[in-house]
Amino acid sequence: MIPLSILLCASASLSPDQLKVDHLVNPLGINDQTPVFTWIDRGGERGEMQDSYQILVASTPKKMADGTADLWDSGKQKGDQMTAEYGGTPLISGQRAWWKVRIWGESESDQTESKPAFWEAGIVSKSDWKASWIGLPDTLQTDSSRPSPFLRKEITVPASTVAARVYVSAKGLYEFYVDGKKLGKDCLAPGWTDYHKRVQYQTFDLTSTLKPGPHVLGIVLGDGWYCGHVGLTGGNNYGKKPMGLVQLTLTAKDGSRQTIGSDDSWKGTSGPIISDDLLMGENYDARKELTNWASPGAVAGSWSPVDVAPIGAEELVGQHSPPVAVLAELKPIKITQPSPNGYVFDLGQNMVGHARLKVHGAAGTTVKLRFAEMLNPDGTVYTTNLRGAKATDYYTLKGTGEEVYEPRFTFHGFRYVELTGYPGTPGLDAVTGVVVGSANPKTGSFECSSKDINQLQHNIFWGQRGNYVSIPTDCPQRDERLGWMGDAQIFARTACFNNDVEAFLTKWTQDVVDAQGVEGGFSDVTPRMGDSSDGAPAWGDAGVIVPWTVYQCYGDERLLRDRYPAMKAWVEYVDSVNPNHLWINRSNNNFGDWLNVQDDTPRDVLATAYFAHSTDLLRKSAEVLGKTDDAEHYRQLFEEIRTAYQQNFVNSEGVIKGDTQTGYVMALSFGLLPDEQRPAAAKRLADHITIDRKTHLSTGFVGSGMLNPTLTSVGQTELAYKLLLTDTYPSWLYSIRQGATTIWERWDGWTKEKGFQDPGMNSFNHYSFGAVGQWIYTTIGGIDFDEPGYKHIVVHPVPGPGVTWAKTSLDSIRGPISCDWKQTGGKFDLNVTIPGNTTADVYVPAKSTDDVTLNGDSASMSDGVSIGGMKDGCVIFRVGSGKYHFEIGKK
Ligand code: BGC
Repeated sequence: MIPLSILLCASASLSPDQLKVDHLVNPLGINDQTPVFTWIDRGGERGEMQDSYQILVASTPKKMADGTADLWDSGKQKGDQMTAEYGGTPLISGQRAWWKVRIWGESESDQTESKPAFWEAGIVSKSDWKASWIGLPDTLQTDSSRPSPFLRKEITVPASTVAARVYVSAKGLYEFYVDGKKLGKDCLAPGWTDYHKRVQYQTFDLTSTLKPGPHVLGIVLGDGWYCGHVGLTGGNNYGKKPMGLVQLTLTAKDGSRQTIGSDDSWKGTSGPIISDDLLMGENYDARKELTNWASPGAVAGSWSPVDVAPIGAEELVGQHSPPVAVLAELKPIKITQPSPNGYVFDLGQNMVGHARLKVHGAAGTTVKLRFAEMLNPDGTVYTTNLRGAKATDYYTLKGTGEEVYEPRFTFHGFRYVELTGYPGTPGLDAVTGVVVGSANPKTGSFECSSKDINQLQHNIFWGQRGNYVSIPTDCPQRDERLGWMGDAQIFARTACFNNDVEAFLTKWTQDVVDAQGVEGGFSDVTPRMGDSSDGAPAWGDAGVIVPWTVYQCYGDERLLRDRYPAMKAWVEYVDSVNPNHLWINRSNNNFGDWLNVQDDTPRDVLATAYFAHSTDLLRKSAEVLGKTDDAEHYRQLFEEIRTAYQQNFVNSEGVIKGDTQTGYVMALSFGLLPDEQRPAAAKRLADHITIDRKTHLSTGFVGSGMLNPTLTSVGQTELAYKLLLTDTYPSWLYSIRQGATTIWERWDGWTKEKGFQDPGMNSFNHYSFGAVGQWIYTTIGGIDFDEPGYKHIVVHPVPGPGVTWAKTSLDSIRGPISCDWKQTGGKFDLNVTIPGNTTADVYVPAKSTDDVTLNGDSASMSDGVSIGGMKDGCVIFRVGSGKYHFEIGKK
């Protein structure tokens, strides 16, 4: 075999592109003093490799253009890495830096430069904050009545101003206005963190908005996660009323800066938002609107001095992840009138966000909007599963013609909207579904010949869309909506296919560290709230699994380095109280294999398997980070746990205590069995599925995501396909047969025989069972990696019964990858795209290269391609970047 290095050559078409800083394009408000740069090569020619790179950072665009890197010059660095940490002069608050990357191919002359990009520092030092938290006085915000504060301040912008930035935040939620116009597209800003420890702020460029002269800054506040309801705690989780924070920096021509911070000179009042709550809904009385409240000059109403509080121990951090924003709009497909006064709109899709209402009527008329995921048999909205979440908005008309209302500070999970009190008969255009969620860019796509699998993929995608709202949540509709750690770790790998969630999960894993207890215990939910106990097995372990998964999918070693101490503290937390290496003590809420189908894995088996798994990932992380002593220590600890597991839970015939599907899945996929026992365990798993359960799964949250990948790893891909295509209970397609448009919390959320499951816990938008998405992308789709961040790609689609073609793509951290395959008769067609500066092993189902044609030629003759041997009935073609068309069975 010809070594790959000889076949891959650098080419003049190298083209650095997609420059990001801390995973974002040209971000403002970066607090990080050593941000991470990334880029891709968009050249697209065969076998392109980056031999070296150089990063240049300058303080002005002119210096950048001249090539004067006055802030940092990394020097020419040998290596194919496409990520580097800033090593130059730290930026001061508000400073912008321009950067570009130069990359070389094989020869010195083979060099290309990117276009310049930039990032801008936020307020990097606490002492640079010249603002205070402001809110309405307590007399206007009581426990029984907490209308949304409207706060304002008139300013005069000097003529010499050449740049303006505003940094805004809230303990609660905010919308920020300049001269009556809302700034930015953010919804539910500043997002959810543990506000006692860390509060995000957003940065807006106001240079073109703030012309010299008088202006009004305005901020409207909502309760949000800070003092509204979330979880089962009854509200006021972090404080008793919302407060806002604003700091405006005006830069003059001579470089001098003027800072205007929120303080006691601001005035406040209440307006049309009578109440707002994420779970309960919003009550808006349009008759109380404050005309011109955010415009210069006279303003109606009575405005009081604001309450002021200094910035405390909380850290203020610029948001380094995509904002929550409007992601789509849905038009209703149907209206029905199941009760005399109630109209029900069907949006055709279970979604998360709010409804926009269009209405015409007399002043004082109140329209009530209720939201539901399902209907009762009589066609009315089914809201019992929302438990304590009222999810009801009210709009009282001002009576001035057509009125359009959209709530600001609430979100609901729904497919159906019920209107009562609507004046007249509503048309379809009376309601629009406004989809709101974290704006993580879409990166994955999958389509195949099976309509059912396509619908499943659709449901998985919408499950992620609706539950990634500032943090990864469990559900969007009932009185919970928490960052359940088990759900997050189970789904993380699938999430990394659907969307670019690197920045999103980097932020959330910081929240996970913030929630870690003093003894090292991660929590069950992050941000931590309510129940103060530490995390359960498979839930707390998210603190190790999610950083590892993100590192694997995106290759950013820095994340692993930053989270490593917390990951280690967690493993130590479990290890220190379980001297016999079985995780019995401190297993906290130990939920087990949540929502399994009468196949409950014994808690000690599940816990110990996760103890071993986290220890193993910690060992791998230590290796990546060059911590050799730790790596050795955790390798040994893993072996000890594994031995204890085998001695206590596995009998001489290879039967694992409990004899559950999830038990075998964990043992096989976490490497807990001796090699000689693996075949027996694999056989027992297959028998359990096919014989005991008549080709059905019985796994809960913990086992379901790993089930199909485990089957594939033991040569049972055909069975995995059968499971995926089973449509009787319990199965992935069962809910689809009942019309599901998202993933349900339970396999039997609703059945023909029994109707609705226990409303005490029955969400119709819960992504955990959608974790099979990972297998859909990697095994049907054929896209995977075996070096972090898709540096070395594995293209290995495995066709199976019921699917004759699949088209899959992933906009990976190293650029676009695609794999399309089609099977017709004895022929197999495979089209593959591999991005620049990566290599790939492409598995082609053929007995020898003689059966394969590549781009119309004999495969063995193709340029830049070598043969990596035979495996799993495939010839492995080792390729570099480029487009490849393999045909098998043509000759
Ligand atoms: C949540 C789950 C969570 C579980 C813990 C439920 O109420 O909705 O998704 O993981 O509790 O077992």
